[in-house]
Amino acid sequence: MISQFNFPTKIRFGAGVVSELPAYLKDNNLSKPLVVTDPNVANLPFFKQIVQDLSSKGVSVEVFSDIHKNPVKSDVYKGDEAYYSTDRDSIIGIGGGAAIDVARAILLRINHREDLFKYDDLIGGDVYVTNDVPHFITIPTTAGTGSEVGRSAIIADDETHQKKILFSPKLLAKIIFADPLLTMDLPPFITAATGMDALTHNMEAFLAKNWHPMCDGIALEGIALIHESLEKAVNKPDLESRSKMLIASLMGAVAFQKGLGVVHSLAHPLSSLLDTHHGLANAVNIPYGMKFNIAGFEDKFRRIARTLDLKDESGEAVVQYLFELNTKVNIPHRLRDIGVKSEHIETLADLAIADFAHPNNPKPVTREDFKNLYLEAL
Ligand SMILES: [Fe+2]
Repeated sequence: MISQFNFPTKIRFGAGVVSELPAYLKDNNLSKPLVVTDPNVANLPFFKQIVQDLSSKGVSVEVFSDIHKNPVKSDVYKGDEAYYSTDRDSIIGIGGGAAIDVARAILLRINHREDLFKYDDLIGGDVYVTNDVPHFITIPTTAGTGSEVGRSAIIADDETHQKKILFSPKLLAKIIFADPLLTMDLPPFITAATGMDALTHNMEAFLAKNWHPMCDGIALEGIALIHESLEKAVNKPDLESRSKMLIASLMGAVAFQKGLGVVHSLAHPLSSLLDTHHGLANAVNIPYGMKFNIAGFEDKFRRIARTLDLKDESGEAVVQYLFELNTKVNIPHRLRDIGVKSEHIETLADLAIADFAHPNNPKPVTREDFKNLYLEAL
């Protein structure tokens, strides 16, 4: 068997590294970036400081922040309009997954003028992504999705809310400035939910069925870093815990090029149907999804248990650890505590079986399995 492994992105990591941005733009002959963010980040002091810093060094900054929490196509078209009407030469995505996904979709849209969803990867649309794209820079402000190191954007249809995936290696950032100082003031709930998303990425990537020992190694170290730091980052944050969470979230997203699994397929329908926060949806579902995966994969769970320093190296001990971690970071154990009702279960199961993540789960998942997992977690 012949395999291909890709780890191409340049990552500048460390406290204060975002201050390198003006010089980086200058070195690359860029002076007119479209800065894409979300309405919350746009009002934070560190964001205003970044814009001020760029402006004071002669960079013409245009900020676009008119986006939804779960981004839709019209967000992308508005951003594209802002890019052209103000004559931009590059795109900087600053924020969590939503902002960076919109930035990446605008990046695609600039030189690909067919309907945005013609490029949907799920219908093979990636083959139409053939033109060059502008220079693209990402700056994460949460430690969770890892979208900054990704090459895809999830954008929903405005009316149907159906999620489409835009994908191409061309959509990778040229450089990532990962500065843990930007994550210092994240509120505890966002830290917990995004952190559990990062843990889910690392665990699902490690268990995913494809052969990818490089991603497996990254995922295990990502799990170790989250084990060491998530509780502290939520309850008593300091620069060390924030730094470990940020690098672990980047590692999770690098690792999940190998694939995700049952937990993300349980989580995605909650966001589509009930607008549940993606990280929260994963956090509540991960103990149940992992329990489902144990039988037949005891060796892999043993390696996860060792990484978590558990005395009992069984899969059941890993599941117990996940419940306890949720308790420590104030995440509920039951779907009913986050707004799911028994009448939602059939629709959720329909959406989950159609989801793109579970085909990479180590074992097959049927619609009946999804229904039972939702009922168990309810
Ligand atoms: Fe995720």
